[in-house]
Amino acid sequence: MATSAPNEGLFGRVKPLDAILRTAEKKSLHRTLGAFQLTLFGIGCVIGTGIFVLTAAGAQKAGPGLMLAFAIAGAVCIVAALCYAEIAAMLPVAGSAYTYTYTTMGEILAWTVGWALILEYAVAASAVSVGWSGFFSGTVLKEFLGVELPTWLSGAPLALGGIEGGLINLPAVFIALIITWLLMIGTTESARVNAVLVAIKVTALTAFIGITLTSSYFNADNFNPFLPAGVFGGFGSGLGAVGAAATIFFAYVGFDAVSTAAEETKNPQRNVPIGLVGSLLFCTVFYILVAAGAIGTMGGQPIMGPNGVPFPAGSEELARQCATYAADKLPLVCSNEALAHVLRQIGWSGVGNALGIAASLALPSVILILMFGQTRIFFVMSRDGLLPEKLSAVHPKWKTPYIVTAMTGGAVAFAAAFLPVGKLADIANAGTLYAFMMVAIAVMMLRKTAADRQRSFRTPALWLLGPLTIAGCIFLFFNLPIDAMLVLPIWGAVGMLVYFGYSRKASHLGRGIVDVPEGDVDALNPSVAGVGGEGDHRN
Ligand code: ALA
Repeated sequence: MATSAPNEGLFGRVKPLDAILRTAEKKSLHRTLGAFQLTLFGIGCVIGTGIFVLTAAGAQKAGPGLMLAFAIAGAVCIVAALCYAEIAAMLPVAGSAYTYTYTTMGEILAWTVGWALILEYAVAASAVSVGWSGFFSGTVLKEFLGVELPTWLSGAPLALGGIEGGLINLPAVFIALIITWLLMIGTTESARVNAVLVAIKVTALTAFIGITLTSSYFNADNFNPFLPAGVFGGFGSGLGAVGAAATIFFAYVGFDAVSTAAEETKNPQRNVPIGLVGSLLFCTVFYILVAAGAIGTMGGQPIMGPNGVPFPAGSEELARQCATYAADKLPLVCSNEALAHVLRQIGWSGVGNALGIAASLALPSVILILMFGQTRIFFVMSRDGLLPEKLSAVHPKWKTPYIVTAMTGGAVAFAAAFLPVGKLADIANAGTLYAFMMVAIAVMMLRKTAADRQRSFRTPALWLLGPLTIAGCIFLFFNLPIDAMLVLPIWGAVGMLVYFGYSRKASHLGRGIVDVPEGDVDALNPSVAGVGGEGDHRN
């Protein structure tokens, strides 16, 4: 283990770039991925609860302007993705945004990013678990098995934005714990399974678009008024087209996984941007068409409060309003299986149920990828000494970081039990936007401080796209609802207590230890191509 004198000062502890690159060199992955596989991988991570479920919350915020919201959020993600690609190809090591920040802006800011990534990954996994629960209860249990869960077991409490009579979302807890168990025993998803699930999701959404856009129910009047809550719904309200964009941003989260596959990509200079931008553009167009189909057939006007302003999505008032509708008259904005509901309403119940099954099959893989990402972030932070090393203990038989996985799974299940999907998604977005912004800063800093280093991909027009990414992230952040916005500084303050109470003293870098122990490298860096499955071609 190499040692060096620690840098002191609050922002002085910067991890040397060479130490990170040495870690990267210790693993050697074959370059097997082409642009197509990479795009497929991106779509597998990205399409999930955002489009299948949050379409309802987005419509409550923006009405038909939801289509504009998808375009805005997609544009921010595309510029962020191009920044991500450069740094991911240059530093192909676990920990992504956390590690990039460590080597550019130093330990304390890296800690804040790692801490924020908990929101991106763990809270997002809770959100997708709750999204899955809606389809599982509505389609698998109710439509197919004729079982209706008692209300108190099927949703979060009303006071937290759940449902009237709700207490705990049992199916969401169930799926979060099952995925935790699978991850603990070392289950990973192979590239082939990913391809099948992508095909299922894309087929379901294509059928949705085809049916709705050609349906006799489609009526252009449903798009009027297009922006019932305006473009800007007001600071902190989370309303309007940009408020919906801040929420629906969730539908794109996960693309960063593509950038972490740079090292396994053939000709990354060409294929990484194709994979990233290709999967995001594909999703953006797809999402806009889905929104057009849903709104064009069912209408997607928000439920307005007495003052002519939409009730906040996920609010108690909205839940009470929704409870007044009969199940077969439920507006789009009230449904927790939005797309299946639309198809059932326009006489395509069979396809609606098939879409519900498709979502029930495909969403668990999104939860798996997100929870996998979370455990690896914790693993890297504990390897750096910022979290107790015991957390990163690898199970002798399963070869997985089982302690962090179990803890992550417990926390994911807990949040999924008591919070509605929209709130969880907004909180996850707050953390993700912060991390994306820091990545853009890190890329620009490295262009200055490590100008001569080899880069297999360079962000085009970085000095334009970098600032645009930062501006886009800040812009979306300040259009989140106020409570989601506040979570980030509050969560950050808790993080600072942990940092100064424990991590700063325990930090390996602070104690002069720079390199990673040999044995950790493999456990940390499974192939992204198959998240450790068939695509894993480690030498
Ligand atoms: N983008 C992923 C989803 O929508 C996280 O579920």
